[in-house]
Amino acid sequence: MRTAICPGSFDPITLGHLNIIVRAAQIFDRVVVCVAANATKTSPMFTVEEKVEMVRRVTAPYPNVTVEVNRGLLAEFARQYEGSVLIKGLRAASDFDYEFQMDLINKRINPDLETMFLTADQRYTFLSSSIVREMARYGGELRGLVPEEIIGMIEAKANTQRG
Ligand code: COA
Repeated sequence: MRTAICPGSFDPITLGHLNIIVRAAQIFDRVVVCVAANATKTSPMFTVEEKVEMVRRVTAPYPNVTVEVNRGLLAEFARQYEGSVLIKGLRAASDFDYEFQMDLINKRINPDLETMFLTADQRYTFLSSSIVREMARYGGELRGLVPEEIIGMIEAKANTQRG
């Protein structure tokens, strides 16, 4: 069975992430969405449990997609899925340098681990989780940025954080 691992911070998951996940699910037998618990992002908006809940909700229609949490190195996490590959979305040339570096360090840790890239859908090349967080904090329109099923959760969180 060929497994694709879609890793990320997912703070929160966006339509851009979901687009990559769904396309990977059409190519691979199984997709594991890997939510990083120890991502080096300072002050995340959502807890790991909330991130997982959002990913679960939006991937529920896809039976070959599951969600896992990773608290360690991604390249070590991948070992449990034999022959798995990492799938990353490339939004612009600027993503490439960083992803190239990540691939090299991951291969140092786990030489068998390959990374494959899907180009982002042009509708989402501008999109990132920080744009969503910023929009949410200022009460901006989230439709078209994140899946409808999680808009309420994001707005509720932004309201609490605004106090
Ligand atoms: N659509 C929308 N946004 C996208 C996207 C897409 N297709 N692809 C990437 N992004 C955005 C994310 O939203 C995020 O935005 P933000 O910075 O505004 O929050 C940004 O690109 C970076 O993505 P992120 O999810 O943080 O993933 P990453 O590629 O930087 O990888 C981890 C981070 C968490 C997956 C990875 O570092 C990890 O697993 N770490 C564990 C430790 C490890 O193994 N480190 C590497 C060896 S040292």
